[in-house]
Amino acid sequence: MGTAAVVLAAGAGTRMKSKKPKVAHEVLGKPLVSWVLDAAKAAGAEEVVTVVGHMREQVIPLVDGASKVVVQAEQRGTGHAVMMCADALAGFDGSLVVLYGDTPLVTAETISSLVRMREENGAAVVVLTMEPENPFGYGRIIRDEVGQVARIVEQKDATPEEAAVRECNSGLYCFDAKVMFEALGQIDTNNAQGELYLTDVLGICRAAGRAVLALPAVDMVECLGVNSRSQLAEATKAMQRRINAAHMAGGVTMTDPDLVWIGPDVVIDSDVEILPNVMLMGETFIGEDSVVGPNSRLTDTRVGCGCVVDETVAVGAVIEDGATCGPRAYLRPGAHLCEGAKAGTHVEIKKSVVGKGSKVPHLSYIGDTTIGEGVNIGAGSITCNYDGKNKHKTVIGDGAFVGSDTMMVAPVSIGARAVVGAGSVITEDVSEGALALGRARQTEIEGWADNRVL
Ligand code: UD1
Ligand code: CA
Repeated sequence: MGTAAVVLAAGAGTRMKSKKPKVAHEVLGKPLVSWVLDAAKAAGAEEVVTVVGHMREQVIPLVDGASKVVVQAEQRGTGHAVMMCADALAGFDGSLVVLYGDTPLVTAETISSLVRMREENGAAVVVLTMEPENPFGYGRIIRDEVGQVARIVEQKDATPEEAAVRECNSGLYCFDAKVMFEALGQIDTNNAQGELYLTDVLGICRAAGRAVLALPAVDMVECLGVNSRSQLAEATKAMQRRINAAHMAGGVTMTDPDLVWIGPDVVIDSDVEILPNVMLMGETFIGEDSVVGPNSRLTDTRVGCGCVVDETVAVGAVIEDGATCGPRAYLRPGAHLCEGAKAGTHVEIKKSVVGKGSKVPHLSYIGDTTIGEGVNIGAGSITCNYDGKNKHKTVIGDGAFVGSDTMMVAPVSIGARAVVGAGSVITEDVSEGALALGRARQTEIEGWADNRVL
């Protein structure tokens, strides 16, 4: 037996008005088609085949690691698209789930329910159905006198009585693979659109006396197909709600979940507090008792326990336990705040370690630098790490005190416990425990103001 899935992603998606194929558009940082592939995998599909066509050079790189790829050069209908998978699934004899690459909200649970219902009943097919507010455009589920599904009729082929039916085809199914491919051999293009309809398989199976069942969708949002930018926003909103609800159920506080956007791979411990206007993307992790926001965007960033991340942008950064950043800190790739360290207001840090308890509180740029423990960097200090061609390193020893407005011209090192006078330009290494002054001596002209001619 076993389960396989086909994901249809060959369509044009013209209503997106985009140079990108529709299924490459993202919901919370993940392409539409990847959401569907992951749901299929999570439901236990051992084999997944994606049917690509329109703008396939952009779709294939998104799917070929996660599925077999089949090309449908010309879009001749959903039945035709599934036929293209016959070779890729040759010899497969089990439950075949058919999904669309533009329905990112379909869940593994619903896919599993379709599979289970088909297998428990030995049915030829189970179709997921829905009753949309406005059924226009959808295929209608036509039932017989005893209420069994008899066939599906497309909007364009429907009689007025058929069009009045409210129960619609979501387009998601679980088929008996063997039976489906057999029935696909019998479909034709005798319909209003001159296409090969996958939906005709249901009528063919029923006529052959096989069981055709319907499973009503628990939440219609799962069937939401993205055909336009406003549907993309709608899908994003629905996914945001789903993800945030799961985090809140796991013990995360959100002042206003409508103002928090979290990607699918983010992990958040309990008792974390997320304030308004926060985006957490990529492989971000937030440890217990930390507070993030307001106005923060973290991507691929690891935040420890008990941190305060206020109005911060961080990409590929590590913020260890008890460290604080912001307001208005920018932590770029390789920024690493050790335990209890601080990156304060208008501070930019790149590829640098700020040691345990060390502080960079105000208006500084620190790049390619290793800062030891218990260091204080005065306001407005800058590591001049770039000579126009190469990047150079700065090393600052434990307990050093760098006065305000210091320029550290790399490569340079400042020894442990050394003190640098404010306003210095440091071009040479400073010895351990020394005081370094690299600035012009102050001069004074007595009575100058009295003799000034204006
Ligand atoms: C289809 C169903 C309809 C259902 C609706 C739900 C058929 C004949 N009709 O209609 O009953 O209510 O979905 O949304 O199946 N695709 C391909 N290759 C093709 C044609 C389509 O890959 O040759 C893909 C499209 O990219 C899309 C999906 O299949 O993701 C559905 O195709 P679409 O043409 O939108 O089907 P509908 O007419 O909406
Ligand atoms: Ca459609």
